[in-house]
Amino acid sequence: MSHYNFVKKCRICSSKNLELILDLGEQPPANSLLQKNQLEISEAKFPLRLFWCKDCFLVQLLDIVSKEDLFKHYFYMTSASKPIVQHFQKYAGDIFKEFLKEQKNPLIIEIGSNDGSLLKEFKKLGCSILGIEPASNLSNIANGSGISTMNDFFSSDIAKNIVQSKNASVIVANNVIGHIENLHDLMKGIKILIGEKGVFVFEVPYLIDLIKKLEFDTIYHEHLSYFSILPLLHLMKNFGLEIFNIQKQSVHGGTIRIFVSNKDIFKVNESVKKFIQLETDLQLNKIEIYKKFSLEVKELKFKILNLLNNLKENNKSLFGYGASAKGNVLLNYCNIDHTILDFIIDTTPIKQNKFTPGTHIPILSPEKINDKGDGDVALLLAWNYEEQILDKEHNFRSRGGNFLIPIPKPILK
Ligand code: TYD
Repeated sequence: MSHYNFVKKCRICSSKNLELILDLGEQPPANSLLQKNQLEISEAKFPLRLFWCKDCFLVQLLDIVSKEDLFKHYFYMTSASKPIVQHFQKYAGDIFKEFLKEQKNPLIIEIGSNDGSLLKEFKKLGCSILGIEPASNLSNIANGSGISTMNDFFSSDIAKNIVQSKNASVIVANNVIGHIENLHDLMKGIKILIGEKGVFVFEVPYLIDLIKKLEFDTIYHEHLSYFSILPLLHLMKNFGLEIFNIQKQSVHGGTIRIFVSNKDIFKVNESVKKFIQLETDLQLNKIEIYKKFSLEVKELKFKILNLLNNLKENNKSLFGYGASAKGNVLLNYCNIDHTILDFIIDTTPIKQNKFTPGTHIPILSPEKINDKGDGDVALLLAWNYEEQILDKEHNFRSRGGNFLIPIPKPILK
């Protein structure tokens, strides 16, 4: 792990008018879990800083860790999180009803298709499918389960090759556009693939949720852009494309699903105007909101640490719940290591028996919670699944265990 560079230029509008809004310190990449024999070796750490473009208003990282280092082998597996699988089942059904049911054998292409969980749903609905996924471990899993997947990073060159056989009726991309450094090449590729009438549907975590709920831990090297609608309008316009609908979704701490097509193909839904109004009312185009956010994040760190230290002083035993990437950012930013948390449990088999980057906490299988109860506290590092996890773990809570929800304000439940 080594390739890193600082790019002082806005990813959408190329402006150099950029303000630093939050510095989370030097951190190892959030998904770079360690094997036991790597614990003694020094880890690569990179600056984790959030910038805001004064011209198009994109919130972004400019400290870029090479995509080969981050994405060729990947630990996040869609199928490990049941709520996401359910979200994808409904997602595919909704897209099918709205755009595909009249078409004969439509082609759905997914960028960053992970283990194929979403494409599987489209396949069940009778669509042709193609995934593009840079992580070889994940594309192997997808191909092994019959989900045809190219093992590569998406690019306009790849789009040119694919389009020789067919245009895509729908291109989907979920939680992946924020990972892509060259957004202009991405859109060039999309434009080629959708032909005249195709639709590009993508989901991204929404900047307003990040700011309002202090989801600072969703900021990590993989996530290069933190989207609102204002800068996206700018990007789409460059390609003669248009956002024609926006829907709010609850996954990943607050997400927006955005629908894009060539200009004047679909009637533009009222929602687009509403989102623009909301962002203007909240003044995402002014620096003050970001300064306030930054201050609140710094205060939150001390609140979390105070609470954990108090619990420790009262001889509570502490462990983490969900070895999420965001959890690693929170642990590293707050300096919570293996002297504070005994272990972290996680349902993802490939994460188990590894250690968290920077903080070296062992990750164990979920059954470990069965030994816990009275007086024990689980720091919920996968807070985006709070409802499902608290529900699932009612036995732990009825034995006297508690969850500590870290954001937006640390509380015990
Ligand atoms: P997630 O929030 O999906 O993503 P990110 O890594 O991008 O922050 O990570 C949640 C982690 O929590 C994931 O490793 C799976 C795990 N998990 C559990 O261990 N138990 C559960 O019940 C759920 C829903 C997730």
